[in-house]
Amino acid sequence: MADKASFRVLTEDERRKLEDNSKVVSDFKQNKLEKEAQKNWDLFYKRNTTNFFKDRHWTTAEFKELLFYNCEPDSCKVLLEAGCGVGNLFFPLLEEIPNLFIHACDFSKRAVQFVKENPAFSEGKVNAFQCNLTVDTLESHVPQCSVDIATLVFVLSAIHPDKMLAVLQNIIQVLKPGGILFFRDYGLYDHAMLRFNPANKLSDNFYVRQDGTRAYYFSKDIVEKLFHQAGFQTLANEYAHRRTVNKKEGIDVPRIFVQAKLIKPEKTS
Ligand SMILES: C[S@@+](CC[C@H](N)C(=O)[O-])C[C@H]1O[C@@H](n2cnc3c(N)ncnc32)[C@H](O)[C@@H]1O
Repeated sequence: MADKASFRVLTEDERRKLEDNSKVVSDFKQNKLEKEAQKNWDLFYKRNTTNFFKDRHWTTAEFKELLFYNCEPDSCKVLLEAGCGVGNLFFPLLEEIPNLFIHACDFSKRAVQFVKENPAFSEGKVNAFQCNLTVDTLESHVPQCSVDIATLVFVLSAIHPDKMLAVLQNIIQVLKPGGILFFRDYGLYDHAMLRFNPANKLSDNFYVRQDGTRAYYFSKDIVEKLFHQAGFQTLANEYAHRRTVNKKEGIDVPRIFVQAKLIKPEKTS
């Protein structure tokens, strides 16, 4: 039967595995993962340095609105990358659209240090800072209502579901009225979700990887609900079906992401 939520057909075995709550991670271990979230991301970047994520050259193909900013070379537009990692999204974007000023933040101090060490980094173009988006107000680094575009790409999935709303409320404070947020993250029943062992389950659609980092798998409905609660309006919200291909390692697997464009209304009611 095709699942209405993600248009992915689950086998009975897959469904049983996803619904198996008999080995869910204990509350004690879950609290520890939450307390150590920053440490675990820092260790991730210590192990992988800048080599894990590929440069994301698809950003303007997927979010075509960004190209309009290129048509106004005399006006500088402000972009916030929330959870920037080592800059795989915004450095290629800066090359394509030079009239951008970037605010880039990440939980991991080490990731922010890698951003600052990138040859393309310049303080005149990039304000890079460490922050925990769930508790540190962005306004202490970015003026209120000053951001034209925000990107939140494969970041919200790493955050505990109870704290996701706080992250969106944090971001909307620094967006201009009429400003747009581009969101992309893991979709429900993605290949990686189906591979998790029931012993890695934290709660519905939320899992922990071997390295202690966590991954939530979003339905479109949850995305819609969360962003609306934070005060955004939806311009687009779709499942994106892609493939991860690595010929050298013989990998070719289907992926499901959720991709959405949200706007901060001009006037909040
Ligand atoms: C999968 S990486 C994506 C990085 C980047 N957006 C990209 O597309 O390459 C997830 C990032 O989210 C960051 N992150 C996780 N929790 C965070 C939090 N509470 N506040 C800020 N950043 C966070 C991690 O440190 C990590 O760099």
